[in-house]
Amino acid sequence: MEKKPFSNAETLQNRAHKLIPGGCHTYAKGDDQFPEQAPPFIVRGSGCHVWDVDGKEYIEYGMGLRAVTLGHAFAPVIEAAIRQLATGVNFSRPAPIEVECAEKLLELVPTAEMVKFSKDGSLAVDGAVRLARAYTGRDMIAICGDHPFFSTNDWFIGTTDMAAGIPESTRHQTVKFRYNDLKSLEALFEQHHGKIACVIMEAARTEEPSPNYLAGVKALTHSNGAVLVFDEMITGFRWHLHGAQHLYGVTPDLSTFGKALANGFSVSALAGRRDIMKLGGSDHDRERVFLLSTTHGAETHELAAAIATMRFYQQNPVVETLYARGEQLRQGFERVIANNDLTGYVDLAGRNCNLLFGTRDADRRPSQPFRTLFMQEMIKRGIIAPSFVVSYTHSEEDIDRTIEAAGEALAVYRKAIENGIGSYLEGRPVKPVFRRYA
Ligand SMILES: Cc1ncc(COP(=O)(O)O)c(C=O)c1O
Repeated sequence: MEKKPFSNAETLQNRAHKLIPGGCHTYAKGDDQFPEQAPPFIVRGSGCHVWDVDGKEYIEYGMGLRAVTLGHAFAPVIEAAIRQLATGVNFSRPAPIEVECAEKLLELVPTAEMVKFSKDGSLAVDGAVRLARAYTGRDMIAICGDHPFFSTNDWFIGTTDMAAGIPESTRHQTVKFRYNDLKSLEALFEQHHGKIACVIMEAARTEEPSPNYLAGVKALTHSNGAVLVFDEMITGFRWHLHGAQHLYGVTPDLSTFGKALANGFSVSALAGRRDIMKLGGSDHDRERVFLLSTTHGAETHELAAAIATMRFYQQNPVVETLYARGEQLRQGFERVIANNDLTGYVDLAGRNCNLLFGTRDADRRPSQPFRTLFMQEMIKRGIIAPSFVVSYTHSEEDIDRTIEAAGEALAVYRKAIENGIGSYLEGRPVKPVFRRYA
């Protein structure tokens, strides 16, 4: 077994696990999500390149869980945040930049009439849930069961395999329908007649919507008196500058943004119809809704980063570049899959701006050990790739290097298919985040 190269990192890793449950603050970054060959920590990044604690350089994909769309330490965004930091970040009254940022977001999402900012995407989706419940006077939530994540809150986590600590009563409030299957949503509305407050889904993930599906969801949701929420955490500023709602031509009642909104700074947004959103304000005579109000809610430097990011999207071909680099990567990856006779064992799913790879074992069943092997061989070749989600700063050369590495990694994969994975996998396999026991 090859010796792992991390000297400083292993000590740090031990300290991390002693002090922090799970060893880090986001499960998707955890040790169990990566092969043992992965650098345990990343010290710095520039563009799509990152460096570990021992100074080794890598090309990174899916940066910051897809938040860092423009690249690490991206100058126009950093400079805007620094300028704002120098004038104070949090006052006892709102800052003008809150209005400026709202105007900018509504310029980019013209299908919405009002917006409120928060920190994490989950909080924005939670805000949508509370508004929908207040607006309809109902408790239940219908979510798309084919979409993996909506919120860190009990109403969603209670539906996963990691539901410890969540009351049974809460778990039953959320029900699931299938994507591209209107009948499954219709069945939920029949089964829970008059009880569902909202329908929450991504407009698309790896599967494209069938013709009229999204319009059908909207019509069904409205005819049953519920609120339609599109979670644009991933699709926003990636599928299209104006969101998936613009691309597919279906406007939801509420939509949520985060991730790419501020190039890694912590800003999320809940946007949508005025008559629903305004329940969070005071200019109505209905019961008031406590909507997204926190101490750190609108820190000025983060809003400055969001404005600079959105401005850069408007002025530069960012979305087009994501699609173009993804296309280059798709073509090259499909070529090396074919060269290694791995069609049916390794594949790509999703739009070119958001590519995910799939790994299967010798019996062509989805395989975490084979996922680990592929990631392990990529890491050895200087590529950290939990996905193939590109950023604006992935250059054509970066993609070429990735395809070359993938060709070599897949040659090892091929041997593992033929001879068994045992002598190729150099550590324990990765595991899904949502599992009941360690
Ligand atoms: C579609 C979707 N919605 C919501 C969230 C939650 O966002 P956050 O992690 O910023 O709370 C995520 C995070 O991965 C997501 O992918």
